Amino acid sequence: MKKLIAFVLSLMLVLTAVAALAETTETKGTLVMATNASFPPYEYYDGETIVGIDAEIAAAIAAYLGYDFRIDDMEFDSIIPAVDSGKADFGLAGMTVTEERMLQVDFSDSYATGVQVVIVKEGSPIASVDDLSAEGANYTIGVQLSTTGDLYCTWDLEDYGLATVNRYPNGNEAVQALLTGKVDCVVIDNEPAKAYVAANPGLKILETAYAIEDYAACFKKGNPLRDEFNTALNALIEDGTIPAIIEKYIPSEQKAEEPAAE
Ligand code: ARG
Repeated sequence: MKKLIAFVLSLMLVLTAVAALAETTETKGTLVMATNASFPPYEYYDGETIVGIDAEIAAAIAAYLGYDFRIDDMEFDSIIPAVDSGKADFGLAGMTVTEERMLQVDFSDSYATGVQVVIVKEGSPIASVDDLSAEGANYTIGVQLSTTGDLYCTWDLEDYGLATVNRYPNGNEAVQALLTGKVDCVVIDNEPAKAYVAANPGLKILETAYAIEDYAACFKKGNPLRDEFNTALNALIEDGTIPAIIEKYIPSEQKAEEPAAE
């Protein structure tokens, strides 16, 4: 009996040592981030690499928590299904927290503010957000499919017969449709809007904004990773890491020019 106890005890010691060794040499595994990398400056391609605010924040959070990390690029409306089915651990895509999405996923704390703005061609008769709902105007509005720009324009305008909404797989294609006259304006988030307008002469962003919103990461409902993520997110906001990432992509002189909400 004594021998057995001694054997069990030494076995336990060996196992503890092995576990401790594994902990110091291995990470906790790989976190997969789902995104749609056509959304500068949050996520976009620099050559073959996905860069941007979300890519860098996620890398910093994964490192803080001791995970390896990988980004999967997909259609924007595939992100929530990917998170829900466990194909991705979280979605980070300049995604707005909405009540409808909260029925499908859990959101982290917010890490940025988004503003839905209207891009028009220089000289456009559309001068404010209110012009979009003008009686009889029936403008055609370009949006990225399943984004809040799409949802607001559908619910506020198209559903009342006040406008037609054309949905594109990404913001860039919506902007190309504006340039070629297929749509009268594009409703999209402020920061990508600025990037698209800077890249395409002849476009401008209206001074009045459609809506102000919070960006957050999304998780499968009940996934405890959300709490770990929040701990890291808040620590990295506090220690200046995340503010520095945001400042790198959106310098503060630029932020002062943001349009005011209606
Ligand atoms: N903020 C908007 C939304 O949540 C648009 C986000 C689009 N993001 C992207 N990576 N394409 O619906």
